Amino acid sequence: MTTIIDELARLRETVRGWKRGGGRIAFVPTMGNLHAGHFSLVSLARERADHVVASVFVNPTQFGPQDDFARYPRTPQHDADGLSEAGCDVLWMPSVDTMYPFGASNAVRVQVPGVTDVLEGAHRPGHFDGVATVVARLFLQVQPDVAVFGRKDYQQLAVISYLVEEMSFPVAIVPGPTVREPDGLAMSSRNQYLSPSERAVATEIHSTLQSMRAAVESGDALADVETAAERRLNEAGFDVDYAAIRRRDLRGAGDQDSQLVALIAAKLGRTRLIDNLEFERH
Ligand code: PAJ
Repeated sequence: MTTIIDELARLRETVRGWKRGGGRIAFVPTMGNLHAGHFSLVSLARERADHVVASVFVNPTQFGPQDDFARYPRTPQHDADGLSEAGCDVLWMPSVDTMYPFGASNAVRVQVPGVTDVLEGAHRPGHFDGVATVVARLFLQVQPDVAVFGRKDYQQLAVISYLVEEMSFPVAIVPGPTVREPDGLAMSSRNQYLSPSERAVATEIHSTLQSMRAAVESGDALADVETAAERRLNEAGFDVDYAAIRRRDLRGAGDQDSQLVALIAAKLGRTRLIDNLEFERH
């Protein structure tokens, strides 16, 4: 059974008890509306520690003015049931007042330079500051030994890894693989907004990523591969934010680099989808 905790004092008491017993704590932060992708991270956390904490907090500071904070799906009962089944010990569900005691707009903020300026960061100004701000707080609240983040949000994982290294957080960051639908679409709480015809087209994101990998492996220049991918997505009906190939550290890519990642962000109607594929060029 998962114990739901919404008071910081109670969370701290629970964590203190676990630490006194010498137990290791693994943590999975989420915004709820959980699916098999999230639950896979909880299973990974279970393998890494004696105690597993997941959080559900829809974080206002990472949503832009045009974003969907108010209509972000909130499904607390479904989330608690799924977390129980996945073997989560504690579900940490702070209120906005607990997370931001002086209000979200007065929050002490954490800014991560460099890696937040490109790709998602360029298209969603302030988004990663909000993510870093809330994850730093969550780490101080939960005090985990290990925290699990999905590769689905590739750049977020890079931002958090940098934050932890740069600020010496005593937390090991463990990446979890992207869980996909049978047709390749990466699982996301946003998929439910797709109409049936959009849902059929959405699978093009994953197949475009695969064709980007194949084109790079067959020797095509990176810039040409990016242009072809964008054209393919436009023709399928997407409004493309980027279709990019970068080095794994996201600091650009040259035709000599071998450890690469292809990343796509594109809108179908009102729904913005992101996905990525890591690969090696031989
Ligand atoms: P959320 O979008 O709920 O995602 C929570 C975690 O689940 C993230 O680490 C994300 O990468 C992972 N995830 C999402 N879809 C996945 C999939 N298909 N396969 C594997 N993992 C997947 O990301 C956030 O919340 C927030 O930004 C947060 C880190 C909680 C800070 O508010």
